[in-house]
Amino acid sequence: MEDKKANIVAVTAVIAIIILILVARVILNFSKAFFLICGAGIAVIIAILAYIIIRVRYNRRRRLLESKLVSEGRELRVEYSFLRKVAGVPTKFRYKELEEATDNFRSLLGQGASATVFKGALSDGTAVAVKRIDGDQEHGEKEFRSEVAAIASVQHVNLVHLLGYCISNPEGPRFLVYEFIANGSLDCWIFPKRESQSRRGGCLTWELRYKVAIDVAKALSYLHHDCRSRVLHLDVKPENILLDQNYKAIVADFGLSKLMRKDQSRVVTTVRGTKGYLAPEWLLEQGVSEKSDIYSYGMVLLEMIGGCRNVCLIDHGEDRSERKWRYFPKIVNEKMREGKLMEVVDPRLLERGGVDEKEVRRLVYIALWCIQEKARLRPTMARVVEMLEGRAALEEPPDTRMIIVDLLSIDDDDQQPDGHNRRKIATIAPHFVGSNTPITSQHSFAMSILSPR
Ligand SMILES: Nc1ncnc2c1ncn2[C@@H]1O[C@H](COP(=O)(O)OP(=O)(O)OP(=O)(O)O)[C@@H](O)[C@H]1O
Ligand SMILES: [Mg+2]
Repeated sequence: MEDKKANIVAVTAVIAIIILILVARVILNFSKAFFLICGAGIAVIIAILAYIIIRVRYNRRRRLLESKLVSEGRELRVEYSFLRKVAGVPTKFRYKELEEATDNFRSLLGQGASATVFKGALSDGTAVAVKRIDGDQEHGEKEFRSEVAAIASVQHVNLVHLLGYCISNPEGPRFLVYEFIANGSLDCWIFPKRESQSRRGGCLTWELRYKVAIDVAKALSYLHHDCRSRVLHLDVKPENILLDQNYKAIVADFGLSKLMRKDQSRVVTTVRGTKGYLAPEWLLEQGVSEKSDIYSYGMVLLEMIGGCRNVCLIDHGEDRSERKWRYFPKIVNEKMREGKLMEVVDPRLLERGGVDEKEVRRLVYIALWCIQEKARLRPTMARVVEMLEGRAALEEPPDTRMIIVDLLSIDDDDQQPDGHNRRKIATIAPHFVGSNTPITSQHSFAMSILSPR
């Protein structure tokens, strides 16, 4: 625009000078004054033309330089985002980007107690799962960001990869952007499909279930033993175990737990997790350790073996007191002692055949060791991996009282159609836990209070 204006002014000036010379010629003839005006006019015209030529050249060079810089900048940005990806640094997304990626949060993948997960695709084509965390006001932006960085720094083939995050506004929801895992969560692959269930799923073969058990054990073992800062998952359950296109298990939501330094043996943290998978020490104010994850892992193993939820309502009864519960771990324990282990295996698998009795025994033994009420009797996750791979001896597990079943059947309003109760322990915890334990209705991103050693 500037250039155009200057050109118009220059051309107008040249025309005006030429007219002036012509008028001078008519009025002054070939007098001395005319030659003076004519000389001055021509000098000005030459100066204007020289200015225009220099300006045009200068502008051309500037434009070339600018376009070079823009393309170099673009290349740098591409390179930078590539390096970020390689290094696993989480990207900060703008809300608009997530809106576009999820087509305005159209495709729902699932919903938990305090989050909703949507499917999306980033501008470079990467498929993502965008987790919208509702109502995490208790954590400041800085805290949230450092938590995100901690999650993203933990990397393992059997752990879901966090790609980025988004804070739309201080009061609004926060978002975590994960890689999309094609086959969804394990619950859809081990429990019989409900009519209302629209998500993908099926009946996972015995062989794959055994592989999933190893994958999950390896992921937890990594979190417990091989991270610079020990990580507790605190919500191990089938919904948080995802299966990729090759049915490799990928553990999700591990970062929502608390980080714990290796020299601390236990942390007392806000009660979180899901009923049915919680270790008894949660309710007994004894603090939690990685042994709590091992308990939940044992519970998941039993559900994979039986193809049913561990805690299941079998008779709804007229009123609450008449409700009857089935506690699968107790049945497994009894069948093991009666020597009828195959009776606890998912009937769909038995129908198909191909279930290895030795492997069933191994999984049942490991599961029952993991759910020992005395936390010190539970094996470490590293030991569980060795036992699963047949590298460590495995003895018959001792009897355990399973008192937790009595506690779990109290006050159950949040019944799922399949009879399973997924109520968050955070909401029932006040029944069991003393007032000096911090309780919050949000299980994720809860603050920890470190207990003395
Ligand atoms: N990265 C992902 N790829 C594909 N599906 C996912 C991914 N993350 C989560 N999901 C799906 O979204 C569902 C909801 O996840 P979310 O973590 O919000 O709830 P949850 O694990 O079922 O329960 P809660 O959050 O209450 O513990 C999961 O069960 C899973 O099926
Ligand atoms: Mg989850």
